[in-house]
Amino acid sequence: EINQNTYLVGGELKKWTGETADIYSSVSSTPEYKPTRLGKIPQLGKEQALDALNAACKAYDKGQGEWPTMKVIDRIACMEKFVEQMKTKREDIVKLLMWEIGKSLPDSEKEFDRTVDYIYDTIEEYKQLDRDSAKFEKHDGVYAHIRRGSLGVVLCLGPYNYPLNETFALLIPAIIMGNTVIFKPAKHGVLLMTPLLEAFQNSFPKGVVNIIYGRGRVVATPIMETGKVDVLALIGNSTSANALQESHPRQNRLRLVLGLEAKNPAIVLPDADLDLTIDECIAGTLSFNGQRCTALKVLYVHENIVEEFNKRFAARVDALQFGNPWDQGAKLTPLPEPGKPAYIQGLIDDALEKGATILNEKGGKTTENYIFPAVLYPVSKDMRVFLEEQFGPVVPVLPFKDIQEPLHDMAESNYGQQVSVFGQNVKTLAPLVDTLVNLVCRVNLNSSCQRGPDVYPFTGRKDSAVGTLSVHDALRSFSIRTFVASKDN
Ligand code: G3H
Repeated sequence: EINQNTYLVGGELKKWTGETADIYSSVSSTPEYKPTRLGKIPQLGKEQALDALNAACKAYDKGQGEWPTMKVIDRIACMEKFVEQMKTKREDIVKLLMWEIGKSLPDSEKEFDRTVDYIYDTIEEYKQLDRDSAKFEKHDGVYAHIRRGSLGVVLCLGPYNYPLNETFALLIPAIIMGNTVIFKPAKHGVLLMTPLLEAFQNSFPKGVVNIIYGRGRVVATPIMETGKVDVLALIGNSTSANALQESHPRQNRLRLVLGLEAKNPAIVLPDADLDLTIDECIAGTLSFNGQRCTALKVLYVHENIVEEFNKRFAARVDALQFGNPWDQGAKLTPLPEPGKPAYIQGLIDDALEKGATILNEKGGKTTENYIFPAVLYPVSKDMRVFLEEQFGPVVPVLPFKDIQEPLHDMAESNYGQQVSVFGQNVKTLAPLVDTLVNLVCRVNLNSSCQRGPDVYPFTGRKDSAVGTLSVHDALRSFSIRTFVASKDN
């Protein structure tokens, strides 16, 4: 058990003796289901949250602090020190990923390794930015050296589905660009920061990284209400993002880096290679139980092939193995949110009432910590499973006759992150891509939607995102392009 009783503020691991929250895992350590107690974390109050804010403000010191003015080479040294220490915690963190969020062993290892790579790649990109600043532009007799300047104090909140990787996709670029940060981990995946607290403490100057725990409304809202936060960096849901943004007194001046909901569709054209399409749609809909913002959340299949697709897809879903995260071959694993099976059941019931059927035999079968993915067909546009971002194991399939039908839905949708298109005829695909690039930010040809490789821009249109993440773009999102102008170079 991890009984976390400290939090990081102003370079100090402060002891907490007040209220705590117990952390339970939906992964059962016994054959009969019983949630496993993993430990506890502090539930800080407003006072501690504001201490963290003040520490971040002091370290930033309106842009004149040690960190924002530090030489690039020294900031890199701090980041390298951090990542070297982080690497020694691989085993602990992988274990916590499995227990806290039910992520399979290979995916947990991948999340850790991807994060380490992300940090090293960010360092390289930062060096490149610095090299670029040594070059100059000359226009009308004025030389300009471009320098990326920091933005200020960042409040950072990460998601539970990638509590390490996506959180660090915000945190690492925010820090390295000279900003100071107050970071509140997600509810599930919170304990995995414990092995890293000391690494944060001894790698960066005091107050650069402050880590707090507690309920959003108790700790994050008061921080926003002071108006001292310059950047809200959040991956999660728009309800939280909107509430936090609105609690900032000068919200129009607040910079946002947000990764929010998505309802990425797959469009399966009549000439699609069905073997490949089904492989990709299985991975796209059900990797990590569909708990990915990039998951395929609705499948549009052309009416000429929908029967064949459904038969083969449903059989493949039923063949997926459910198990504990460390069980070899387990593709479906316990859901970390206790209310998720009931929520998914609600979506299924609604679809059945409105005329859909479950295509796979095991679909909708529940246990205390899981609901087996149901493939629902035919899904109509009044069904909740079509309208809501399910973020879990249920797959809606819609037949279409004319490509204008999915395009119309995408244009009407509040979201616009990615799309997958399956088909082989270049003459059909090329004009389709010309339209799709105006509806989403990434078009995946004959492959499922995903964020990586992390060098590519990760963003979305409409309510799906604000700002862009990636090794390349995040450094720009967390900084401002400034320049030094002179008459001589
Ligand atoms: O939850 C959204 C994540 O950004 C998905 O990332 O495509 O690498 O699984 P991924």
